[in-house]
Amino acid sequence: MTRKKIVAGNWKMNKNLFEGKQLVSDILESGLELRDDQEVIIAPPFTSLELAASQLKDSKNIFLAAQNCHQEASGAYTGEISAEMLKGLGVRYVILGHSERRQYFGEGDALLAQKTDIVLKNGMKVIFCCGEPLQIREAGTQNTYIQTQIEQGLFHLTEAEFKNIVIAYEPIWAIGTGLTASDEQAQEMHAHIRSLVAAKYGDAIAEATSILYGGSCKPSNAAGLFSCPDVDGGLIGGAALVAQDFVGIIKAR
Ligand code: 13P
Repeated sequence: MTRKKIVAGNWKMNKNLFEGKQLVSDILESGLELRDDQEVIIAPPFTSLELAASQLKDSKNIFLAAQNCHQEASGAYTGEISAEMLKGLGVRYVILGHSERRQYFGEGDALLAQKTDIVLKNGMKVIFCCGEPLQIREAGTQNTYIQTQIEQGLFHLTEAEFKNIVIAYEPIWAIGTGLTASDEQAQEMHAHIRSLVAAKYGDAIAEATSILYGGSCKPSNAAGLFSCPDVDGGLIGGAALVAQDFVGIIKAR
């Protein structure tokens, strides 16, 4: 079973319309040649999705992701964006459960389970993020911490639904800090996550689930991380804002 090898760029709250257009053009013009089992995902802010969709319309395996969506289908939720609106723009993935959403916007497991449902209901896929803070890593309880996040956010799904989930392991202490998890730390956690999926959904689904690493991933450390057997690619923050670095990471995969 070959699972998808994915490099996804999460731009967070960066790049205005013009800067975003330039970044997508630079990525497209970099001469990337992707294998059939490889996917690249670009997650710009909402304001750039439509333009990026038009730029990516002829790309075979470069897809668009949104960074969030609301849990309700529609209605009086001023300032929010629905899954259906994203679907209509040609968005293929929605990132949910990023530690910044959990930390700054109080998003908890029950809400994330609801958001997961509405994204899947609209025919898109979810990049579901999990990750422990430093004090949990220091206490050595990261495995149970991640288990809770995954069980609460995802394990209500049916097998058929779960096939549309990509998991991203992003230790909070490695995000934007320059501190990367070592290859061994990443592999150990990814194997743990895959074993949780296997116990719930069986080996075939676990083997087919892409599990990405995120946290200070750069061209210089990507090859090591991506060579770990259970690391199927990366969710990239800072380095996704510079075409050359993002492309360098994709080439490491
Ligand atoms: P950095 O690559 O900037 O550490 O961010 C990782 C991340 O949060 C991607 O979602």
